[in-house]
Amino acid sequence: MTRHFLDINRTATADLEQMIAEARRIKDARAGLPKGTRDAEAVLDGHVVALIFEKPSTRTRVSFDVGVRQMGGQTLVLSGADMQLGHGETIADTARVLSRYVDLIMIRTFEEQTLLELAEHATVPVINGLTNRSHPCQIMADILTYEEHRGPIRGRKVVWSGDGNNVCASFLHAAGQFGFDFTFTGPETLDPEAEFVRAARAQGVTVEIERDALKAVEGADLIVTDTWVSMHDPQSARERRHNQLRPYQVNEELMAAANPDALFMHCLPAHRDEEATSAVMDGPQSVIFDEAENRLHAQKAIMRWCLGH
Ligand code: CP
Ligand code: NVA
Repeated sequence: MTRHFLDINRTATADLEQMIAEARRIKDARAGLPKGTRDAEAVLDGHVVALIFEKPSTRTRVSFDVGVRQMGGQTLVLSGADMQLGHGETIADTARVLSRYVDLIMIRTFEEQTLLELAEHATVPVINGLTNRSHPCQIMADILTYEEHRGPIRGRKVVWSGDGNNVCASFLHAAGQFGFDFTFTGPETLDPEAEFVRAARAQGVTVEIERDALKAVEGADLIVTDTWVSMHDPQSARERRHNQLRPYQVNEELMAAANPDALFMHCLPAHRDEEATSAVMDGPQSVIFDEAENRLHAQKAIMRWCLGH
């Protein structure tokens, strides 16, 4: 059976835990090596990986590309606009054709349905590089980052402040799978999907919705936020969202109300002094650039899992 990495809630907990351990091992094994050199275990030697982007990207594009090269493979970075995908060719046919040329497909797209159809018809593994609904690779890197700094995330309290968007959704999936409590604080109209909240609770973790940001962060071990307007959101929503989300900005006052050793995360790109202040982003509790680096290591582990290496 082809092993796709479509979402954290669609992957077995034991596999997720194994990928995090593997990512740590892969990262340690490369310590101090020049970026352009191959890993000792160049497991993608002879492999070609297609990286499809229907939305902009800096981290996902570069970390996957560099990761594949370090593993000895070759990449094809494709922009959705330049492909027949979306210009009349069905997603199913694109999946069948690409499967004849490449060994692995990573796609960043709009509708989750595009990802699912691609995976259904591809005979090679498909990795979710972000959809409107989730961003699992990011949260695998975030779990790795948290555990490097503070040890096991199991039993900890994570607070999401802001828009209950795709990145928030993957954190909720991870709460259920990795066993940490999750509090969402933001306006009601931007709540995370009720289905994801229910599913995480059914896995035995506490999920709370708290409108008061200062109350929400009491006892928090990790505070996370993201842009107030995502790539799939209409720009016309910008002003309304800013007005709604301003009380949920992560600033020094909010950080001070959490546990003293709480960390701050943001998947980036950030709008500085909007969803989080520069004082927090550049402050001692921030691990935002470790998160960015860990995309590379976490995705290598994900690719190896997909290909059974
Ligand atoms: N965090 C993240 O996925 O960033 P990019 O949009 O730059 O890939
Ligand atoms: N929520 C953001 C994440 C970007 C990495 C977006 O979808 O635009």
